[in-house]
Amino acid sequence: MSDAAVDQGRRTWIAITCGAGAVGGAAVAVPFVSTFAPSERARAAGAPVEVDISKLAPGDRMTVEWRGKPVWILRRTPEQIDQLKTLDSQLADPNSERKAYPIPDYAKNTGRSIKPEYLVVIGICTHLGCSPGGVAKGSGNASVPADWPGGFLCPCHGSTFDLAGRVFKNKPAPDNLEVPPHMYLSDTVLLIGEDKKA
Ligand code: FES
Repeated sequence: MSDAAVDQGRRTWIAITCGAGAVGGAAVAVPFVSTFAPSERARAAGAPVEVDISKLAPGDRMTVEWRGKPVWILRRTPEQIDQLKTLDSQLADPNSERKAYPIPDYAKNTGRSIKPEYLVVIGICTHLGCSPGGVAKGSGNASVPADWPGGFLCPCHGSTFDLAGRVFKNKPAPDNLEVPPHMYLSDTVLLIGEDKKA
């Protein structure tokens, strides 16, 4: 992946984050600012980022920055969790067995998560590094199938991912979205970038 591709991806997600005031605006702003505030040196070193998820409603997603990358935190609804179990046959790597990058053991399950309710994933397409966007079930978006279960669409070349960040078959993106190391400090506070097992 070229630096230019990464930079473009970052520009795109920063623009999306800045424009996304309606959903969890305050929740996005606080961790975003805090990652820049301590010091550029700490940021460059990839210091872990603490995130308050207490205000994240079911179905909503927030974005924080870790190591210069957008990390999405999605709180799935019970219906969304159930639907994940029905998609394996449509996915390229439903059980996250490919080894393009390290996958934490706690991400090797259907939801690719420690808790089924929360997905924590790096929002960068594994094809050429663009930033996918969310497409809701029943949105009528012409770039996804009519029976689209809800998930993410990368507008660059049409790769699609489910709500666990698993890539659908026959798409340009070769791998699922990456799950960063993370852990829960409490029921409402996540630490991105460290899991004590790394
Ligand atoms: S960069 Fe996402 S499909 Fe090409």
